Amino acid sequence: MATAARALTRLARLTPSPPSITPATTRRFALPRQAFRQSRRGYANGAAPSPRSGRTGLIAGLALAAAGGAGYYFYTNGTFPVEAGKVTSDGRQSGPFVPTKDDYQQVYNHIAKLLEEHDEYDDGSYGPVLVRLGWHASGTYDAATGTGGSNGATMRFAPEGDHGANAGLKAARDFLEPVKQHFPWITYSDLWTLAAVAAIQEMQGPIVPWRPGRADRDVGFCTPDGRLPDGSKGQDHLRAIFGRMGFDDREIVALSGAHALGRCHTDRSGFSGPWTFSPTVVTNDYYKLLLEEKWGWKKWDGPKQFEDVKTKTLMMLPTDMALTNDKKFRPHVERYAKDNDAFFGEFSAVLTKLFELGVPFQSGEDARMSFKPTVSE
Ligand code: HEM
Repeated sequence: MATAARALTRLARLTPSPPSITPATTRRFALPRQAFRQSRRGYANGAAPSPRSGRTGLIAGLALAAAGGAGYYFYTNGTFPVEAGKVTSDGRQSGPFVPTKDDYQQVYNHIAKLLEEHDEYDDGSYGPVLVRLGWHASGTYDAATGTGGSNGATMRFAPEGDHGANAGLKAARDFLEPVKQHFPWITYSDLWTLAAVAAIQEMQGPIVPWRPGRADRDVGFCTPDGRLPDGSKGQDHLRAIFGRMGFDDREIVALSGAHALGRCHTDRSGFSGPWTFSPTVVTNDYYKLLLEEKWGWKKWDGPKQFEDVKTKTLMMLPTDMALTNDKKFRPHVERYAKDNDAFFGEFSAVLTKLFELGVPFQSGEDARMSFKPTVSE
């Protein structure tokens, strides 16, 4: 069955687009592996290029049929996927399928390969938007009620998928659909968080320990709008939003370092531009730039945001700038700007915590696994 599924997934893949990479020229910042395109293609729109082929529906059906012919998948309590036990032709009993670390590494490798192949997106990588998907799936958590969090993948459904904060994340969900077809035993909610981990690691970030155990839930578990942060606000808002999830000041600053990656899009959040010169590489440049550059209000008709005075190509949100203005946040910004190892260590730990919010794991923390990056550091 694995062979049939693999063949079907191969069919589902698009022919990789020809590479058109222009290396970053700045020497001050880390060189991206999937280089930042200096000649920008403008803002990605809602109809971002998808790696899925138009034949996906048919192929998905075929894949399901193939799976059905060789034993079907079901979910015990929705937490651990198992394959129905069956008797093979030579009379052996094959037990329920319980994925091992190697199986999850295969999923990781598959995502890494797609990231490599699909360099046509945005600054040359789907990595940043995958990180944002994992974060928005998890960042709805409310510790007081135990609702939201990465358990459920409820952003698949219209009420949550349509929340303003989630604009543009369809590109990330579509990117991962062929992976789900290839590995039908993994839940969407495990897949989305694993993909965020893979993206961080493949963009030369720290190893982020991760464990499986998330269940997909139905539309009834969608969270109300307004649980994710609003970039136009200040430190009180950040503390209210992240405090609700159970994060302290240090963790808020560490999490914000994810804005070394990616960019804002006018047709998604309304804001515009990248935070760093190397938006497809995990670095502590976000903190360095916050402290070292001069920032002024961008003069435009869009929402209030900052731009660097020197090049006018970088941006900061009011929430980013709040980290330097607040006397409790600022020491962490300074620490991470000086010490990339400290940032990497604390960033990794806080991401593991983020991606586990709201998950009723049946396993302990010792079940966390570290995936091997496909790129050497
Ligand atoms: C501190 C509060 C935060 C605010 C107000 C905020 C706000 C935003 C906004 C407005 C965008 C632009 C979306 C777009 O137009 O495409 C964005 C992008 C992004 N955010 Fe955040 N964010 C926050 C925290 C985080 C955290 C905790 C993470 C991950 C741990 C994260 C990861 C990202 C990434 C990777 C992108 C780039 C996505 C892309 O390039 O498509 N953000 N964020």
